[in-house]
Amino acid sequence: MRDVAVIGIGCTKFGELWDKSFRTLFIEAGEMAISDAGLSGDQIDEIFIGNMSAGRFVGQEHVGALIADYSGLATNNIPATRVEAACASGGLAFRQAFTSVASGMADIVVAAGAEKMNDVGTEETTDVLAAAADREWEGIAGVTFPGLYAMIARDYMNKYGLTREQLAAVAVKNHDNGLHNPIAQFPTKITIEGVMSSSLVADPIRLLDCSPVTDGAAAVILCPLERAHEFTDTPIQVLASTQASATIALHDRQDISTLDATVAAGNRAFKMSGLERSDIDFVEVHDCFTIAELCAIEDLGFCKKGEAGKLTEEGETARHGKIPVNTSGGLKSCGHPVGATGVKQIYEVVLQLRGEAGKRQIDAEIGMTHNVGGTGATVVCNILGRA
Ligand code: COA
Repeated sequence: MRDVAVIGIGCTKFGELWDKSFRTLFIEAGEMAISDAGLSGDQIDEIFIGNMSAGRFVGQEHVGALIADYSGLATNNIPATRVEAACASGGLAFRQAFTSVASGMADIVVAAGAEKMNDVGTEETTDVLAAAADREWEGIAGVTFPGLYAMIARDYMNKYGLTREQLAAVAVKNHDNGLHNPIAQFPTKITIEGVMSSSLVADPIRLLDCSPVTDGAAAVILCPLERAHEFTDTPIQVLASTQASATIALHDRQDISTLDATVAAGNRAFKMSGLERSDIDFVEVHDCFTIAELCAIEDLGFCKKGEAGKLTEEGETARHGKIPVNTSGGLKSCGHPVGATGVKQIYEVVLQLRGEAGKRQIDAEIGMTHNVGGTGATVVCNILGRA
């Protein structure tokens, strides 16, 4: 297997982007990444695109071909593949691109993700997202993603005594980080009281515990590490890229507040990289709801089960804490265009490792990403470091 590096990155603004179409979002992010790597389009060997549901959000399927065409690469007959794993589609596109380069199948590969969610209303969006759960056992009973994560939150609170304030502290910390991120959908300061008095969505989850509904795209370019210096002075090496599955329905899990796929993908990432938890300087985790961030920190092994709320409340997951979590602002403040999020996490880690994260810059050499599909039926983890 060859060593692999990220040599170019791009990300659109995240938000309600009424003046941009699905394809123009992808092209914008792709052009940024190509220009960042100093490449020309005809040097690209292959494209992987993370997308959950363009068919239902914008009525467009055959996304790989569409993107190849509108990138101007269809004339080169470039292989372009859509990758789908619900909210982990972007992370999985990155892992497919990594595998393609590592195996020697291709040299210059684009991993991208795009989603345009606002073209349909909240009701339809909620139903589209519910398709990431088990339709016959969960969706049919009317359960939504806020509902599923509310069950996880309630179970966790009962087991570990998590307080409502500790849950709110996750959102407050992520919005503090997002304040300094130009791509963020909600770069707004919020307070514990503000979270606790926001509208109730699914008890105990409130509006400000939720990631929003978002349009956006992100793209990164990978190549063999040995060629990376042809394109950049600051290549970022991919030290691990792993994936795991678990049961799709929550009721089939032994413990609903532990994501077994996070535990497995995390353990595999540490084994593959040969690193310890203490080697990781920061982590971008999948905070689709505030409770998800707490479960992630614990299931990845950064603290014991039941301790993440206290860690957050004490500021240890803030930018200058012991283990900074979601320096980008996370899904909560940046937004969560579901197919793009996993690639945007890589974008943030690369920015931090290059020292290009502006006011949210931390001192870091190794960063990790954690991207979840559904309530944890798919998890992708990546570890990246300065080459
Ligand atoms: N965080 C912060 N502010 C938010 C927000 C969020 N998640 N969602 C909406 N807002 C703001 C809006 O900007 C708007 O502000 P304004 O009144 O000042 O304009 C206000 O709150 C109401 O927004 P609206 O779009 O009407 O909310 P909604 O009721 O349609 O949707 C949720 C709110 C929570 C239901 C929706 O964001 C949601 O479903 N989130 C979860 C998405 C999800 O499940 N993703 C997959 C995870 S696995």
